[in-house]
Amino acid sequence: SGVVALVVLGSVVGCSLTDEPTPPAVHHTEAAYRPGAPGIGDPDFPDDGNGGYDVAHYDLDVDYTPATRRLEGVATIRAAATQGLSSFNLDLAGLDVRKVSLDGKSATFSRRGDELTVRPERPIDANDEFTVEVTYDGVPNPAKDTGNLGTFGFMPTSDGAFVASEPDGSKTWFPSNDHPADKATYAFEITVPAGLTALANGEQVGQPKTAGGKTTFRWRERHPMATYLATATLGKFELRQGKTASGIPTLAATDPAFKSGLDRLYTSTAEITDHWAKVFGPYPFSSTGGVIDNYTAGYALENQTKPLYGGFDPDEVIVAHELAHQWFGNSLTIWRWKDLWLNEGFATYAEWMWSEHKGRKTVEEFFTEFNNRPDSDPMWSYPPGRAKPDDLFNQSVYTRGGMALHALRKAIGDETFFKLLRTWAAEHRYGHVTTEKFIDLAERMSGKDLNPLFDAWLFQPRKPAA
Ligand code: ARG
Ligand code: ZN
Repeated sequence: SGVVALVVLGSVVGCSLTDEPTPPAVHHTEAAYRPGAPGIGDPDFPDDGNGGYDVAHYDLDVDYTPATRRLEGVATIRAAATQGLSSFNLDLAGLDVRKVSLDGKSATFSRRGDELTVRPERPIDANDEFTVEVTYDGVPNPAKDTGNLGTFGFMPTSDGAFVASEPDGSKTWFPSNDHPADKATYAFEITVPAGLTALANGEQVGQPKTAGGKTTFRWRERHPMATYLATATLGKFELRQGKTASGIPTLAATDPAFKSGLDRLYTSTAEITDHWAKVFGPYPFSSTGGVIDNYTAGYALENQTKPLYGGFDPDEVIVAHELAHQWFGNSLTIWRWKDLWLNEGFATYAEWMWSEHKGRKTVEEFFTEFNNRPDSDPMWSYPPGRAKPDDLFNQSVYTRGGMALHALRKAIGDETFFKLLRTWAAEHRYGHVTTEKFIDLAERMSGKDLNPLFDAWLFQPRKPAA
């Protein structure tokens, strides 16, 4: 019942219930004010994101000094309440909060773990828009995972910072509703010591301004973006800017140590972006690009409009992977992490398609090679359609996820398959997706019962029968 939920939530966010309004009768819940939930409702990541509101826009004003590793930030977040709110949470890991205000009036706040609870002077009505401003500072501490995630979030480098936050590392550098189910637009104002460059998502606004030994870079991402794709990668960079053959603005940037790879990154990014636009449908964003930083992350991340490569000069196939994510992952975003194969399986399939497109190994050859792995291979015991929270980026989510798409293609034929990819990308452009929706669309477009195929490839802990 509503009363039980209220007690549970109240105790989780650590606030006293004595000053709460009397719990309303169940049939009057829309009139009630209650704390927003401390999680957005992803059962695998119960504390990630928050309930009770929906963010429309983040304004992130960040000043970073590599020598001291200190960050000073002001995050201004515009949101709409989805319930009457007596309080609500933001996610923030570490850092010191100096001040919180709500619609210009100071608000009280408290912290517990990675939850920042904001209690406005007057409760917020359901459907009302509000603006919360958080002033904070400190030394960001990137997230370290004991499983297969490694280090993520805001990571210091020798000359700046490498910012790659999948799955939930945005809270290491800005207060946020840190879950992909709440996408928003972004404006960045990043101040760094003069001589350094700050690279965020979207396009630069105006020229960088230098004063008092510091330079401020302004960027704007006008399309909805998941928190984990937000970046403020900064340091010494060599840049090359221009347009792809089809006219999409593009920016390649490399740490000086990777300068020899700048032209190759620029060229492959432009060519691959244009190629995927032919295969998947129009490029979803206003610019494309790529950044190679001198930080060995052990992975790359598809940061929106600017994939980030961690300390290596990426092969074309990796660039093809990260750029495919601009459609599958960034424009079409998963609602729950368990559906991660909708990102990684598609991006892996794109790697194989790029290889074939370049006259190298074909998709069918990749499929056959992986399918020849023995029954004992760990890929067969991990069903990729249900990514496990403690082993999210398991190779099966990538490889067996990609194989599921190839099995589908063979079942429905090339024409329907490629039409399906484009329809999928068009129908859910800038939105959220689930595996069920994909299966439904595949069945609708092919007129076939595909449940046995998807069940075998995505959900069974064994190798699908030939
Ligand atoms: N989405 C990235 C890719 O496919 C992987 C990100 C892994 N994240 C992490 N924290 N290790 O390239
Ligand atoms: Zn990927």
